[in-house]
Amino acid sequence: MKSMQIAIDGPASAGKSTIAKILANDLDYVYVDTGAMYRVVTLAALQAGIDPNDEQAVTDLLPNVKITFKPGTPTQHVYLNGQEVTEAIRSDEVARNVSAVASYAAVRSTMTELQREIASNAGVVMDGRDIGTTVLPHADVKIFLIASVQERAERRYKENQAKGIDTDTTLAELTQAIEQRDYLDSHREISPLKKADDAVELDTTGLSIDEVVDRAKAIIADKA
Ligand code: C5P
Repeated sequence: MKSMQIAIDGPASAGKSTIAKILANDLDYVYVDTGAMYRVVTLAALQAGIDPNDEQAVTDLLPNVKITFKPGTPTQHVYLNGQEVTEAIRSDEVARNVSAVASYAAVRSTMTELQREIASNAGVVMDGRDIGTTVLPHADVKIFLIASVQERAERRYKENQAKGIDTDTTLAELTQAIEQRDYLDSHREISPLKKADDAVELDTTGLSIDEVVDRAKAIIADKA
């Protein structure tokens, strides 16, 4: 079977990275978490004392942001200028500011270029918001993963508690934060969160991880 490009898009906390990682592992493909890249730029701005709403300052910072990944189980390791930021990019503060940073033209073009470069070398499973529409419009498989906002917030809540991240954030606060991020991501001007016309929608509400993986594999087999 030839190496494929598999694009997995969808709203926040729909399970994209969990599913993408399993598929990449099973297929022996490279997994690319594009959300992590936007999170790293956001963290870099916060660490530099830059207001994430200041587009010019964030744009000027871009040449000083070097993002690298190293494979790891269960989470791949993410680095900002050689410093590990795997946990730091998952904070509430980064999540609150990432949609603003991800709406800037220079940020998007820089990340898109990096993502296409990675995808040009190997079979890839890439997850994000605009992979099927903008980054890899000719991807062999496009899956748009959705789930009810209640279920997405509950999954994130359990994950936070298990990882010990932002454990005092309530379920109601997480629900609101997810809704807010989805709104901003789907209403921005450049490459908004949107199902590609040729993507297959997969609703994961009420499904186990294994069930979602099985359905995703059936979609992939259909396109192979
Ligand atoms: O996937 P994750 O929730 O980590 O993404 C964090 C944020 O990065 C999203 O809310 C969105 O603002 C941005 N993003 C994006 N385009 C992508 C992936 C993520 O704009 N392809």
